[in-house]
Amino acid sequence: MTYILGIETSCDETAAAIVKNGRDIVSSRIHSQSVHALYGGVVPDLSSREHVKLIDLIVNQTLEEAGLAVNEIDGVAVNNGPGLVLSLMPGVMFAKGLAMSSGKPLISIDHIESHIYAIELSNENTEYPMIVLVASGGHTTLFEVDVEFNMRVLGSTLDDAAGEAYDKCGKMLGFDYPAGPRIDSESDSNTDFADFPVSRLEGYDFSYSGIKTAVMYYLRDKDNETIRENRNSIAASIQKAINDQLIDRISKAVKNRDAENIGIAGGVAANSDLRERLARYAEISNIKLFMPAKALCTDNAAGTAGLAYRKYLTGEFDDMSMEVYTQLKRNK
Ligand code: KG4
Ligand code: ZN
Repeated sequence: MTYILGIETSCDETAAAIVKNGRDIVSSRIHSQSVHALYGGVVPDLSSREHVKLIDLIVNQTLEEAGLAVNEIDGVAVNNGPGLVLSLMPGVMFAKGLAMSSGKPLISIDHIESHIYAIELSNENTEYPMIVLVASGGHTTLFEVDVEFNMRVLGSTLDDAAGEAYDKCGKMLGFDYPAGPRIDSESDSNTDFADFPVSRLEGYDFSYSGIKTAVMYYLRDKDNETIRENRNSIAASIQKAINDQLIDRISKAVKNRDAENIGIAGGVAANSDLRERLARYAEISNIKLFMPAKALCTDNAAGTAGLAYRKYLTGEFDDMSMEVYTQLKRNK
């Protein structure tokens, strides 16, 4: 039995998890920082302080929930970029300290790859190669992933991430940060109420700056009462436009590359409309869709601990000189 403890502090979630043999989540704790709602977005300095304050407690609760002592853990894994440097720092420092004091190997994990690994944790029989969309607050990238978890980037956002578009458009509608889940729950079925632009760039890149501007002008021309009365339909129209682009990129990749398997990951993968529409698309197109459980879409440490098992088996360890990486370190 191999138990890996994972730590995630790349943005505004302080999270820890223990995963057995890269597959079974023994325990998982996620603290979502609420302080940022006041500012309409993540404030890196505040996020860092919260992580420093809570990481010890969250890790201890995770160990307690698993009924394991530190010396029963086989490795300490940490998400080390991409992310906010001030947020990553406390997690990386804590992981180093724990690895050093316990004598366990330190394993750094790419945050995007940990999101993708959530697909593995939620599905028994994943199949590759898989076209995988990672859509979160900081990233929107389409990958082709092979069975060894090598990733090839097909396209990325040229400006805002899909989650960022949800948050910014939602904020204009009066929803607190993060607005994505609110748009999800508040949207009604009137998706054609407003017509927002859907970018369809050549290749597989994404662009979300257009919808942000369109929503801004749309709302500027309406009085507050009209907006209040139709908020659920405006939310539905925003959601449709954001998801249209995601689905367009995925289906284009499926068609051009003759793909048989698709997956989604990252916070936006929790979106109910996206999940339902993709499920319908997969059924009609006779392809397989693999999604993480909703709780494993947003930032968590289970994907971190799970993926680290692979590196544990191959002895791919880090040492105390490990730096904090804010960008992709992917060299595959
Ligand atoms: O993956 P994540 O937790 O953090 C990053 O790595 O960025 O993603 C957070 C993003 C936020 O922008 C949030 O609004 C969005 O994911 N999100 C959603 C939903 N749940 C989270 N967007 C749409 N629908 C949801 N249900
Ligand atoms: Zn993330």
